[in-house]
Amino acid sequence: MARPVTFPLQRPARLAVLASGRGSNLQALLEAFPADNALGSVVLVLSNRPDARALERASSSGVEAVHVPWRSRPEFEAEAQRRLLEARVDVVCLAGFMRLLSPEFTEAWAGRLLNVHPSLLPAFPGLDAHGQALRAGVPESGCTVHLVDAGVDSGPIILQRRVPVLPDDDVDSLAERTLSAEHEAYPEAVRRLLSGEWS
Ligand code: GRF
Repeated sequence: MARPVTFPLQRPARLAVLASGRGSNLQALLEAFPADNALGSVVLVLSNRPDARALERASSSGVEAVHVPWRSRPEFEAEAQRRLLEARVDVVCLAGFMRLLSPEFTEAWAGRLLNVHPSLLPAFPGLDAHGQALRAGVPESGCTVHLVDAGVDSGPIILQRRVPVLPDDDVDSLAERTLSAEHEAYPEAVRRLLSGEWS
């Protein structure tokens, strides 16, 4: 059973970020939610990859950074859950976390587990969202921050940001434009959740 949580909390929220790679969205969250921020702070970063740049970014900001190996999904989730509870985390943000979590894990964090996806969901879920958008020939794309449920890139949408798709775009140029939108959208979505503006 998920523990029901109502926002706003009566204290600054403790945020964790799960990331697998570069961590540019993590960086945006670290800058928006530093230590002593009244609304909340990033207090823990977990990565399934030991070489993730995200871990370096967390350490550079003085935030606890932990590699949790993905030997299997149950083993990863048990260790991640132990770390999250030990750090008294309130909200978990997936930021370029490239593994699927179990329904048990997503249910345990229901309403407090967010993800950013580089498309205007429900269009183009899953891998290669930019390639999907380009092949579909859509005139605009964007990003979505949503609560995570047991599905893939499903769950209630908190906010979306649109970007144009230009005639000479390739996957890299569209990804770069979309990523800038993500860096604004993710902190804003977290802010809306924590402040109780979104429910
Ligand atoms: C972002 O485009 C995110 O939407 C997707 O993976 C990318 C991660 O980038 N899920 P970064 O690691 O945050 O730089």
